Amino acid sequence: MWTTASVWSAFRARVPTAIDRIVGTDGQKPGWQESDSAVFMDWGQYFVPHRATQLRIIRDLTPEAGSGESYVDLCCGEGRLSEALLQARPEPSVLALDGSEAMRQVTAARLAPFGERARVAAFDLGSDGWRKLSGVPGGPLAIVSSLAIHHLDGRQKAKLYADMYQALKPGGRFIIADLIEPLSPAATSVAAWTWDQSTREAAQEHQGPEDPYQKFVATGWNYYADPYPDPIDKPSPLLAQLKWLEQARFIEVDVHWLLAGHAIFSGRKTT
Ligand SMILES: C[S@@+](CC[C@H](N)C(=O)[O-])C[C@H]1O[C@@H](n2cnc3c(N)ncnc32)[C@H](O)[C@@H]1O
Repeated sequence: MWTTASVWSAFRARVPTAIDRIVGTDGQKPGWQESDSAVFMDWGQYFVPHRATQLRIIRDLTPEAGSGESYVDLCCGEGRLSEALLQARPEPSVLALDGSEAMRQVTAARLAPFGERARVAAFDLGSDGWRKLSGVPGGPLAIVSSLAIHHLDGRQKAKLYADMYQALKPGGRFIIADLIEPLSPAATSVAAWTWDQSTREAAQEHQGPEDPYQKFVATGWNYYADPYPDPIDKPSPLLAQLKWLEQARFIEVDVHWLLAGHAIFSGRKTT
């Protein structure tokens, strides 16, 4: 029987970029499915508004870290953000966590060139067992998450924020990029058409036979344009999320970017 401590201990001794089950589910979680992973891997670069800009903003917000220090990427997907962090900082390591086996495999391949600085593992965002991040000695200097926390409801988000405060190294930063819930029909309409426009523009860069914008429409990916959105998507209002960060005792709680219903915001743990 694995305990959290023994799993982390084994994990530290593991070969680079191991794909492993650390804590959480058997991979059959309700909510995000492997079919969603497939769509996102194929088309996410077009569906995510200003993808490169978002990655750069998150990267720039992560505190400088040295050898022996770590970042954690919650719901790493294909590992693009983890890769950007590893490229930007030559010394720290990244622990990339995701519930999708397909995503973890792609991430492991993407991060393999970074050797022991990159680790990939399974987890369930909504469960508690992983949250002490005890396999990251001293705590991570940054916890980042892109486009995933909206799968938790408001109460779960507030709990996650409090738990991540505890897990971080003093002075560390929690950086979230995610869908947010508009507070009026007019604001929802703005989020819907601006996301539509962003995807339409990004799709013009695509060279292949299929049209990413048509996929965006056909898959109903635009949460704000859907009168019956998928119940797995539970974005919360931005102001509520900033308050949850403050209630968790984060300081410098701030919004760094917002477009098409997607926001990047963060808070720092006191030193
Ligand atoms: C929209 S993708 C975003 C991936 C990546 N962060 C990015 O920005 O490209 C959402 C990711 O969250 C993961 N995910 C969703 N719900 C999860 C859960 N409860 N536990 C673990 N991972 C989850 C999915 O497997 C998927 O990789």
